[in-house]
Amino acid sequence: MTAGLINRKWVLESRPEGAVSEKNFRFETETVRPLAEGEFLVKNNYLSFEPAQRGWLNDVRSYVPPVAIGEVMRSMAVGEVVASRHGQFQVGDRLQGGFGWQEYAISDGTGLFPVEKIAEDVPISYPLHIYGLTGLTAYFGLLDIGLPKAGDTVVISGAAGATGSTVGQIAKLMGCHVIGIAGGAAKCQWLIDELGYDAVIDYKSDSVEARLKELCKNSINIFFDNVGGEILDLALVNLANHARIVLCGGISSGYRTAELPPGPKNYMQLVIRRSHMEGFIVLDHVERYPQAIEQLKQWVDDGKIKVKEHVLQGIEQCPTALAGLFSGQNFGKQLVKL
Ligand SMILES: NC(=O)c1ccc[n+]([C@@H]2O[C@H](COP(=O)([O-])OP(=O)(O)OC[C@H]3O[C@@H](n4cnc5c(N)ncnc54)[C@H](OP(=O)(O)O)[C@@H]3O)[C@@H](O)[C@H]2O)c1
Repeated sequence: MTAGLINRKWVLESRPEGAVSEKNFRFETETVRPLAEGEFLVKNNYLSFEPAQRGWLNDVRSYVPPVAIGEVMRSMAVGEVVASRHGQFQVGDRLQGGFGWQEYAISDGTGLFPVEKIAEDVPISYPLHIYGLTGLTAYFGLLDIGLPKAGDTVVISGAAGATGSTVGQIAKLMGCHVIGIAGGAAKCQWLIDELGYDAVIDYKSDSVEARLKELCKNSINIFFDNVGGEILDLALVNLANHARIVLCGGISSGYRTAELPPGPKNYMQLVIRRSHMEGFIVLDHVERYPQAIEQLKQWVDDGKIKVKEHVLQGIEQCPTALAGLFSGQNFGKQLVKL
């Protein structure tokens, strides 16, 4: 069943000290071994790239264990079963799971990210973003923690990214006034023209401080933060009373252990503005994934949520795709197509 198949993969060679680069990974080629009873072989079609993967390279306490040196780099992926000795998964099934940076993966269906079938009517890459952790992060972060009400002013950092762009569109569906902070004219234009944001701040060329004052002085009801650092501090001084700050991520830190991100200087604004700041991890909402995905599908089918993919071609591109997230090379959800 697997005879003659060659797998190409990236394994973790060393833990990055600063920015992640190709030097931290080793490219290997191997013959695919025969399957044991209860296993199946997946040929990966798309690999998913997320800033969190940089954090998984640090040997520190986190919500998942670090990737081990010599282990295939962990990532979500989608693919098709090409051989099976498993009762539940047959040849031809389309699956999503934590199959890693490799062309073929052998699995028994269990692991950190349990394997699931992808319905026939779903575009195969969508479970890696809008019908997967990205869409779910936007959904639970905004709706459960941000608690949006019609008329609220919602400010989003990392607004043109996979998560941020979904948050903004859901906020618009909730009747909110949406302001996005993103890097570069093209991304900002897209947020206004295509996604219906009410206003944007290009943090690479505008003064975020001045623009926040101009657009939403003391009137931010929800700040959905993907970036942290200085942008978080600038948002804190423009909160309305009883604001909600949703801590989704802090990509400006680069997720490096050596350089801890600074704490927010302006945290006393939470007291003055009687406001609430809360972090969350999407994995905590697993029981409600089915209903959230059903709602996201409805919005996508109705044309109310648009998705954008940024696709690099070939397994060789994996380290480049991961590193690029930290300088905004991706315009949409970062994927590698195999
Ligand atoms: N809490 C959770 O459960 C959870 C789950 C998934 C993701 N997240 C977090 O959600 C955020 C977005 O993740 P994603 O997968 O959707 O990635 P993404 O937003 O599609 O890509 C990352 C984006 O971050 C921006 N960025 C990079 N460095 C920056 C910096 N120094 N300052 C400001 N912006 C910077 C870039 O956009 P620009 O071009 O605009 O700079 C880049 O495109 C991340 O913080 C991630 O850790 C959290």
